[in-house]
Amino acid sequence: MTKIAKTSPESVRTVACIGAGVIGGGWVAHFLGRGYQVVAWDPAPDAEQKLRSLVDSAWPALERLGLAEGASKDNLTVAPTLAEAVAGADFVQESAPERLDLKADLLAEIDAALPEGVVVGSSTSGYSMSEMQVKAADPSRLVVGHPFNPPYLVPLVEVVGGEKSEQWAVDWASEFYRLAGKSVITMDQELPGFIGNRIQEAAWREALHMVAEGEATVAQIDQAMTDGPGLRWAFHGPCTTFHLAGGEGGMAHMLDHFGPSLKAPWTRLEAPELTTELRDRMVEQTDEVVDGRSTAELIAQRDRRMIAIMRALEEVEREEAAERGEGQA
Ligand SMILES: NC(=O)c1ccc[n+]([C@@H]2O[C@H](COP(=O)([O-])OP(=O)(O)OC[C@H]3O[C@@H](n4cnc5c(N)ncnc54)[C@H](O)[C@@H]3O)[C@@H](O)[C@H]2O)c1
Repeated sequence: MTKIAKTSPESVRTVACIGAGVIGGGWVAHFLGRGYQVVAWDPAPDAEQKLRSLVDSAWPALERLGLAEGASKDNLTVAPTLAEAVAGADFVQESAPERLDLKADLLAEIDAALPEGVVVGSSTSGYSMSEMQVKAADPSRLVVGHPFNPPYLVPLVEVVGGEKSEQWAVDWASEFYRLAGKSVITMDQELPGFIGNRIQEAAWREALHMVAEGEATVAQIDQAMTDGPGLRWAFHGPCTTFHLAGGEGGMAHMLDHFGPSLKAPWTRLEAPELTTELRDRMVEQTDEVVDGRSTAELIAQRDRRMIAIMRALEEVEREEAAERGEGQA
């Protein structure tokens, strides 16, 4: 049965944050910065003091980013019980410890105390909603809203439902997060690790292999990323980056030309067979991302953005040196 949302994503005023550790506290800071009323609940005895100090330390960053109208740390209430925390909520963000039994019980408890038509987003990094929603009376409004640390700075949220989630809840959550200032990916299917972490994890596992085999040091690996691909990935992502590596011929030329190197031992992660179907899908989807921009335009954009990032980093490094009292000679 399709449920009706209690409120539209535009009308949300109060967000409940259940679990207020590193991620839950980061969500609290984000929602406060965007001008929402936030009610938090966390069973740890020292949770409120820890949460308020997390918000205090995040606030200068939120101010630099730009607060929404009416945003204030005073809009945070810490509720004494879970039921009181969610009673008046228009949306709930769950960020409890990553344990399947705990998440399943907690989501059922949240669902039982929550007014009908209110959507719940779980911050889980590792579980599918299908696994977590099994105990809830109304699993249809439970979705994953996976953030990156710290949620008040990193824009990305990956939204995906489980087998028993309804599409309206997935769409509602996606729209709400977008209005709350996030960059949203609405995923079409459940996938362990979601998308961002799968890409990050591939690099991480290769880094561990290289250190284990003595092939590269931690310093070399970090430098290879921060002064290499990491700089470009902040704005173009791996696919657009390789589209540019193909010159005027773009992704099609890149794959036709460098396809054979997918068999070379450049990483321990095995590449899929580069079938015509995969090649064509990559070309077609890259064309959608490129959206008519010429190679010259993309190169100009890349160069401008890369210089902007490098200049910004140099400026921050100068500020940090000045704060340490290391003035210029
Ligand atoms: N740390 C990360 O980088 C990261 C990134 C994305 C997503 N996540 C996910 O966010 C969630 C929270 O992770 P975290 O790093 O903030 O952990 P954390 O240990 O810092 O915080 C968990 C909080 O939950 C509280 N808690 C304990 N039992 C609870 C219960 N029954 N109900 C509600 N709260 C309870 C704890 O007191 C603690 O404050 C996990 O699902 C994790 O996978 C973490």
